[in-house]
Amino acid sequence: MTRIPNKVYMEEIEMVSKDPMEIFKSWFLAAKEEKDNVLPDLLTLATVDSNGNPRARTLVLRGYDDKGFKIYTDGRSMKARELENNPHVSIVFVWSFRDDQKNLGNKQIRVEGIMERLPLTEEIAYFNEEPLSAQIRAAVCIQSRVTDDREKLQEQSQKLLDRVRVEGYRIDKPDHFQGYRLLPNTIEFYKGTRHTVNDRLRFRLEMDVNPGQLPLGTYLGDKGWVYERLEP
Ligand SMILES: Cc1cc2nc3c(=O)[nH]c(=O)nc-3n(C[C@H](O)[C@H](O)[C@H](O)COP(=O)(O)O)c2cc1C
Repeated sequence: MTRIPNKVYMEEIEMVSKDPMEIFKSWFLAAKEEKDNVLPDLLTLATVDSNGNPRARTLVLRGYDDKGFKIYTDGRSMKARELENNPHVSIVFVWSFRDDQKNLGNKQIRVEGIMERLPLTEEIAYFNEEPLSAQIRAAVCIQSRVTDDREKLQEQSQKLLDRVRVEGYRIDKPDHFQGYRLLPNTIEFYKGTRHTVNDRLRFRLEMDVNPGQLPLGTYLGDKGWVYERLEP
């Protein structure tokens, strides 16, 4: 039988900053330190197709800055075509953490906003630092295309690898290797364990806000953000 506690425990997200990108940074760095998180830089990206149907997939977070979150993909992929049609997206991170009693808990960050392309110079610099296997994959594959010939992909990959090994051939960034930055307009943090009433803290970008006229429960953050708590 499960033990019934005699007290309700509340989880409280610590406001380390009133700028949500700063809270993201502190959570991301903590997630990387926590050994329960095997792949902390993975995220789920949801796009919307031209019929309004959502589509999600896993990507690697390739960087972030004060403006937003960076990812790389193939400009001919399903997601890239969807982004061209509708740049509004949502991404989700999920991580584990340990509380003071070493109980396992979970953190989630949901971001909504608009995708913009990264500058070409940044894409080239990033591609040149990619492992050779990733460069070959990017040069050979047309992501999301139907194929009935995987052997051809292997042959082409091997040929390219041989050129690199034998001739010292340098693989340049293909045009379709594209970087994007998600410019957030909403960032929501969620934190809790199995034993707590969990906490949610949502930041919304509200550039023309009147500090004297904020709705009940909405507070002024930094850099154009307002924040509020949501019931879990
Ligand atoms: C762990 C993991 C990491 C991935 N990272 C990337 C990535 O950074 N970029 C990318 O284009 N696809 C990545 N993929 C593949 C995507 O999940 C997806 O299959 C691919 O991008 C095609 O998506 P689309 O057809 O919706 O465009 C990753 C898959 C996994 C399982």
